[in-house]
Amino acid sequence: MIEQCRSIEFPQKGDERGHLVIVEGNQDIPFEIKRVFYIYGSDQDVIRGRHANYRSEFVLINVAGTSKVKVDDGTDQKIYHLDRPHIGIYLPKLVWKDMYDFSEDSVLLCLASEHYDADEYIRDYNAYLEIIKEKNKM
Ligand code: TYD
Repeated sequence: MIEQCRSIEFPQKGDERGHLVIVEGNQDIPFEIKRVFYIYGSDQDVIRGRHANYRSEFVLINVAGTSKVKVDDGTDQKIYHLDRPHIGIYLPKLVWKDMYDFSEDSVLLCLASEHYDADEYIRDYNAYLEIIKEKNKM
């Protein structure tokens, strides 16, 4: 699964008036966007996320400031540095993710493929490992 995580560079149409970055669902990213939320004002020592999702896929973009995202599929881990407003990372379903090391000015934009449903969040890491183990058996 971790190999499905990837950086995506978005089209830019900036001109002398400033920058413009475009993210179109099902075109620049591999899903239709059903939900948008953003995270800001998190202190540097805070770790957010700490969950995996049964159904939701995400694209994360630091539209301002910087943060890091650690993805983990139960076997491998990978760390992404989000530090440019025209670069995002795509996260498929069922990867564990931690967001951390937020700069003071960090605004982390999250695009999701699903509406919010607390029941599709896996928030216990050991439970996550069990779920992955079962899935890998199939
Ligand atoms: P949480 O999942 O802990 O945020 P993060 O993973 O980004 O650190 O969400 C914080 C709270 O907000 C929690 O009570 C669930 C709620 N929430 C929604 O109601 N809708 C949403 O789309 C999201 C992302 C969270």
